[in-house]
Amino acid sequence: MDELREAPVLSARRICKSFTRQRHVFSSAPEICHAVREVSFEIHAGETLGLVGESGCGKTTLARMVARIERPSSGNIYYRGLDIFAAKKAELRPYRQKVQYIFQDPYASLNPRMSAGAIVGEPFRIHERRDGDLDGLLSMVGLSPEQKHRYPHEFSGGQRQRLGIARAIALRPEVVIADEPVSALDVSVQAQILNLLKDLQDRFHLSYLFISHDMGVIRFMSDRVAVMYGGRIVEIGVNEAIFGNPLHPYTRMLMDAVPGFSGPTGKREGEGGGEGAVSLDDGEKSEAGCLFWPRCAEVLPYCRETAPELARVAEGHLVSCHRREKDA
Ligand SMILES: Nc1ncnc2c1ncn2[C@@H]1O[C@H](COP(=O)(O)OP(=O)(O)OP(=O)(O)O)[C@@H](O)[C@H]1O
Ligand code: SF4
Ligand SMILES: [Mg+2]
Repeated sequence: MDELREAPVLSARRICKSFTRQRHVFSSAPEICHAVREVSFEIHAGETLGLVGESGCGKTTLARMVARIERPSSGNIYYRGLDIFAAKKAELRPYRQKVQYIFQDPYASLNPRMSAGAIVGEPFRIHERRDGDLDGLLSMVGLSPEQKHRYPHEFSGGQRQRLGIARAIALRPEVVIADEPVSALDVSVQAQILNLLKDLQDRFHLSYLFISHDMGVIRFMSDRVAVMYGGRIVEIGVNEAIFGNPLHPYTRMLMDAVPGFSGPTGKREGEGGGEGAVSLDDGEKSEAGCLFWPRCAEVLPYCRETAPELARVAEGHLVSCHRREKDA
């Protein structure tokens, strides 16, 4: 049976996350930052959902909710049908083992006072796995068992990320959330780590929620791609659809912005009606209309008034844009 027709391993239903911040020292009225707005997606066994978007569009906030580090303001996240924010502690045990996180900065996420062996073996101790094979785990990520006595500062950036990956796969997870796992690394090392992640995926049939702001990395890694803008998914579809037939003006802009990575439009970033990233903050018109209109080259008069729905344009390809409604 086609795997994509099976029940998803992980799904999110209309999740939102708002933060309240003090506007500035002399202002009593707080401002609300809508970091994630009405986001829904599914991840199936063995697939990679790539999440791409500019800095501040809500990728990490979304990942942290899936990892249960942050609670959504509204909406639900399910692991194998279990609502992870409604479940009791005991019910969450499988989720805690089977959904793991790889951090962007491998150095900051590793305790400098712990040896590599202690770091990688920590999940075995927490989950009382006395049979955990530490040496095997290190070999699996391309490190030698002798290196377990070393400390994080004795490893290169790529090796530290290998330690982070080893820790994440120690309990044989089903889902790994990887938040910009290569963006802190030298370009020469990035490919090695991406290939390692792919090898581990094949070996253990892992599902990835893979986050990057780099379209090239997303294209290499993802089976399906979700493009985020201003806290919303504005386009989602299989890799071939997103890269072969990108439909949202923002997706096209992301592609056009990469040198040597020619998107189908031939336009350059900033060619639209305006410049700069969207404000996620509560304020003038932030809730009305399409969030992308100030930067959009294809803006229609009513784009400023009415927000487009994320609508299906082809099998598994959804886009949130009034232009595409007209085309459909
Ligand atoms: N704890 C918080 N309190 C207030 N605002 C927050 C908090 N965490 C995130 N935000 C805001 O939410 C928005 C989304 O941030 P987030 O870190 O999720 O973006 P991102 O897409 O991961 O960006 P980057 O690519 O830079 O990592 C930003 O405007 C950020 O300032
Ligand atoms: S809805 Fe309008 S402003 Fe928004 S992306 Fe589409 S054309 Fe551009
Ligand atoms: Mg982030």
